[in-house]
Amino acid sequence: MAHFDPNARPFSKKWLNERLAVETLERVLSTEYWIPKNINFLWAMGMVLAATFGLLVISGIFLLMYYIPDTQKAFDSVNYTIMSQVGYGWLWRHIHGVAASVVFLIIYIHMFTGIYYGSYKKGREMIWISGMLLFVTFSGEAFAGYVLPWGQMSYWAGMVITNLFEGFSADFMGGALNFPGLVEWIRGDYVPGQAFIGRFFMLHVFLMPLVIIALIVLHFGALRIPHVNNQDGEEIDFEAEAEKWKAGHRKESKVIPFKPVFLSKDVFVLGIYFLFFFYLVFYHFEFAMDPVNFDPADGLKTPPHIYPEWYFLWSYEVLRAFSKNPGLVWFGFAQVIFFLLPFLDRSPNVAPASRRGPFKIWFWLLLIDMIGLTILGKLPPVGIFTPIGTTFAYIFIALWFALPFITKMEKPVGGK
Ligand code: HEM
Repeated sequence: MAHFDPNARPFSKKWLNERLAVETLERVLSTEYWIPKNINFLWAMGMVLAATFGLLVISGIFLLMYYIPDTQKAFDSVNYTIMSQVGYGWLWRHIHGVAASVVFLIIYIHMFTGIYYGSYKKGREMIWISGMLLFVTFSGEAFAGYVLPWGQMSYWAGMVITNLFEGFSADFMGGALNFPGLVEWIRGDYVPGQAFIGRFFMLHVFLMPLVIIALIVLHFGALRIPHVNNQDGEEIDFEAEAEKWKAGHRKESKVIPFKPVFLSKDVFVLGIYFLFFFYLVFYHFEFAMDPVNFDPADGLKTPPHIYPEWYFLWSYEVLRAFSKNPGLVWFGFAQVIFFLLPFLDRSPNVAPASRRGPFKIWFWLLLIDMIGLTILGKLPPVGIFTPIGTTFAYIFIALWFALPFITKMEKPVGGK
């Protein structure tokens, strides 16, 4: 039996420490969790993401108090009750809508920072994989949320995305993977209706947030042993450097403790981010709201041009470049290929892309190609846009096939 001091004041640090080891927890998670000095503001994006997720949860809880998951009432519960009847309901809705869009911008910045600096290699593979799981779950979460206001885009996006599974009920892979009635099973009906809204409501407010929280814990846990990378990909002996810091040689040490030193920098970046975020919430929230979705869902009136939110456009454009079943395969490819990055990159170099020769070109081509796909995904598939979109989709696929060869040939870079 452990020793408990009978004189310790209830809920004092000592009392809590004896029961919950709070001091050990604090040391492991913050005051002795070491961060390299050689990093820049891009390393604050993880915290910005965590804070934005927090805002989504809080604003979502307020919206949940008035939202009604019913095909007859959902639209009005959002556009009338929350927007004009509930005090500050509009504010929570704008925060939720803007955060749902901005979180993807930050996720893409965070992902491309990882790709640029090679932060997915040499012991950091699980950080990358848990990050990708977060990306996929966030995508599902955003899609489910988009269905809930039951506007025209909610309905028709729900229709188009669930239609993608039609391939499986026909002759996918020559009938090898055949699930007749799969689309109806997913929808719970022949078309999106009450069963559809009910299950997406459950996924959006319960199951997926739970999975996201678990994945964030996994992501943070995966960071603990390899620690974060740095701007030069330098392999740091964290224990030795931490000893220097603890011995008072703070200038010579290459690391700083997460709390309070790095945290103060994170909070500074968060402050700037929130200025930008609330500027959008108060003055430009409309960018996060599709005007078509301010018309109630109508299963008899197909909008002339159906497109997803901006963050799905690049993979949507890959899908559109092909006819139905191959399109589904390449869409699936686009979604999962990033998972394999740590294994497709065959070079042992952990260094910024700028020092990695052909990989530098690969990185910028990928980024430009995905921006191009995003722009083309928003345009209707007519005239010259179709062949250009197809070319961009082919380039995307070709880049991933080329990656193992390019990186295999890469020369070792002299690390610092
Ligand atoms: C909303 C979800 C996410 C949260 C809350 C989150 C949080 C964090 C935090 C706090 C860090 C440490 C500090 C930093 O480098 O920013 C980090 C690092 C990292 N994250 Fe995420 N992340 C998320 C999503 C992702 C995604 C989608 C990916 C990519 C697939 C990813 C890949 C990484 C990588 C590779 C690192 C290590 C960076 C390094 O070693 O320098 N994360 N994440």
